[in-house]
Amino acid sequence: MAGRKLLQFERVGFQYDGRDILRDLSFDIAAGELLVLLGPSGCGKTTILNLIAGFLTATSGYAFVDGRVIEAPGPDRGVVFQSAALFDWMNVADNIAFSLRCAGRPKVEQRAVAREMAALVGLAGHEAAFPYQLSGGMRQRVGLARVLAARPKMMLMDEPFAALDVQTREALQEEMLRLRDATGCTIVFVTHSIEEAVFLGDRILLLTEARRGAFREYQVSLPAPRWTPENRLHGDFLALRGQVYRDMRARQAA
Ligand SMILES: Nc1ncnc2c1ncn2[C@@H]1O[C@H](COP(=O)(O)OP(=O)(O)OP(=O)(O)O)[C@@H](O)[C@H]1O
Ligand SMILES: [Mg+2]
Repeated sequence: MAGRKLLQFERVGFQYDGRDILRDLSFDIAAGELLVLLGPSGCGKTTILNLIAGFLTATSGYAFVDGRVIEAPGPDRGVVFQSAALFDWMNVADNIAFSLRCAGRPKVEQRAVAREMAALVGLAGHEAAFPYQLSGGMRQRVGLARVLAARPKMMLMDEPFAALDVQTREALQEEMLRLRDATGCTIVFVTHSIEEAVFLGDRILLLTEARRGAFREYQVSLPAPRWTPENRLHGDFLALRGQVYRDMRARQAA
């Protein structure tokens, strides 16, 4: 994708207790791109996301957002976790509008944005419900809407659908691609599902040995609009899924 570079990692290293978790990791993300980080448990996916979010700081090298070194979390980068960390004492609308309330925006605006975002994620009519009244999939939708309401340049998603049943998961994958078309948001999406990676990604980084800064890279080319469920049966989808699977297995056997 030919766009302005929104994120750049230049030989980023990260250590926990003197142990290399990432070493000399270099990659970049264009504005509007959906990049998937794929890899086995413990390979460093969440660590990379935390570095982008500004929750962690690189121990060597540089990570840039919009040309500036990442030093702290910021409203330009919204994070969606595996299970939506909602405020249980607030209804759906107040959860969604939380960032606007923090920014001191007027109540009317908070309500309007909450309604707009609820509709965008398929929760119209549920604004007054409380989190305990929602299913897991609905909670994830609220989490998504809450991040979208802050209008971030970049969404960082750490296995946001991993805990959901297959039907809900597929529906949310498709919806996320629609949202992405509607908002033009740049997305970094972490998963260890090859299928999810190929369905969602414009590009996939298969982290083989993040400890050594190594990854394999795949460009995904599937027909637009990307959210059509038929893409799951497309020849290119099946071929790439097979290729990534073989590469992953070969890696594990090596
Ligand atoms: N707070 C911590 N202190 C020390 N080591 C840590 C800490 N957090 C993570 N690690 C180590 O860093 C490595 C990478 O962890 P990370 O959470 O980034 O992996 P991951 O790819 O997200 O795994 P998963 O798919 O299981 O979520 C792991 O080996 C883990 O043991
Ligand atoms: Mg993780």
